[in-house]
Amino acid sequence: MKKEAQELWQPMTHPGTVQDDPPIAITSAKGVFITDANNQTVLDAVGGLWNVNLGYSCQSIKDAIAQQLQELPYYSSFRGVTTDKTLKLSQNLTNWFGEEQMGRAFFTSGGSDSVETALRLARQYHKIRGDKDRYKFIGLKKGYHGTHFGGASINGNVKFRRNYEPYLPGCFHVSCPWTYRNPFNEEKSDRLAQLCAQQLEDEVISQSPDTVAAVIMEPVLGAGGVIVPDSSFMPLVREICDNHGILLIADEVITAFGRTGAWTGSRLWNVQPDLMCLAKALTNGYFPLGATMISEKLVDTFEANTDGAGEINHGYTYSGHPVGAAAALAVLEELKTNDLPTNSSLRGKELAQGLAKLKDAHRWIGDARGIGLMHALELVSDRSAKTALDKNSMALVGQEIYNNGVMVRISGNNMILSPPLIITDQHVKNILDAIDAGLSALTKQHD
Ligand SMILES: Cc1ncc(COP(=O)(O)O)c(C=O)c1O
Repeated sequence: MKKEAQELWQPMTHPGTVQDDPPIAITSAKGVFITDANNQTVLDAVGGLWNVNLGYSCQSIKDAIAQQLQELPYYSSFRGVTTDKTLKLSQNLTNWFGEEQMGRAFFTSGGSDSVETALRLARQYHKIRGDKDRYKFIGLKKGYHGTHFGGASINGNVKFRRNYEPYLPGCFHVSCPWTYRNPFNEEKSDRLAQLCAQQLEDEVISQSPDTVAAVIMEPVLGAGGVIVPDSSFMPLVREICDNHGILLIADEVITAFGRTGAWTGSRLWNVQPDLMCLAKALTNGYFPLGATMISEKLVDTFEANTDGAGEINHGYTYSGHPVGAAAALAVLEELKTNDLPTNSSLRGKELAQGLAKLKDAHRWIGDARGIGLMHALELVSDRSAKTALDKNSMALVGQEIYNNGVMVRISGNNMILSPPLIITDQHVKNILDAIDAGLSALTKQHD
């Protein structure tokens, strides 16, 4: 008999597995809960894909989308035209990110597009200024910057790189401040931050600083397994960039809009980046939209240019889509009355405490880490050797947690938690109980 989903190839999945093991089809959602085609309702501790920060029932965003579809379902933002909502959103976003001194917004269709735009604008900035050799990019190992060839070239995770090589020339990677595993065998986060920053500066110097266009980093590394740098790290990166005339791109696709417990990851670490990549929670996941924010420092170089080098010959059919812009405007209104960073921080602390207790109770947890409402459990089969837990055991744990009423994201040997930022303390308890049950089921299978 023909199985469901045979015609579907999914992102980040081997297409062969879908033939025997069809994905769970989600059919509806309410608040922070999702319901599947078998009528099972679970708490969504993934928050869609780190993006449904306000949950699934935010009526004002749905209404804004519906109304915009009636008024103007689409118009282009290419030269000479745009839409009223696109204009308004650019104003509102530059205000929203005033503390980061963002002066302009360039709209995209999602995170990978925002990264691609930032990389291109970084190169162009140097070209306009006559610094034509600055084309190289440096990123962090374990960093994730989407799937376009630019972003993937600067991704620092072998998993996302291996099957698609070769990549863009001129992209280099340095160690990230991951206390659990690092080449320096350093567990102290402030010391590790210094060592990683030194490695970055060494790389810049060995590349010749006048060839480096930008350093790109996530303020908290997400897809690489929720790696939270020491608070000194991003400021050190900023300093190195400044000392060598290099731009700093903050990839805030996950961290903007409250997930870390601050409105942005850059604000969390007290840093003003030169370019910021946004997407995901910008529309609460209800419509695909992204933005690259351009800091005041770059604005004049582009706008005052007279020889054509400042012309942005880059953009997407859906740049500034009016429906996406309407959704984002509604999100920003919601955020004015919804103190997401505070809830993220409070619930995040409860979650962290609970995960630490689970670590004491279950030998499978090698490391529990996170900040705000982005956390990861790194699962191992042998704690002292830090041996990654095998794929089947990871799948079993994920399935048992689901059976116990919670959706988590299994990625390699990491269990990633990124629930909506509106969860309550009771939801946190539900998540912890379900994980407890999932890990107990694994122990039972082994003992
Ligand atoms: C930090 C970061 N940058 C870029 C992206 C790519 O975004 P998208 O999947 O919307 O293209 C992601 C996606 O998870 C991300 O986490």
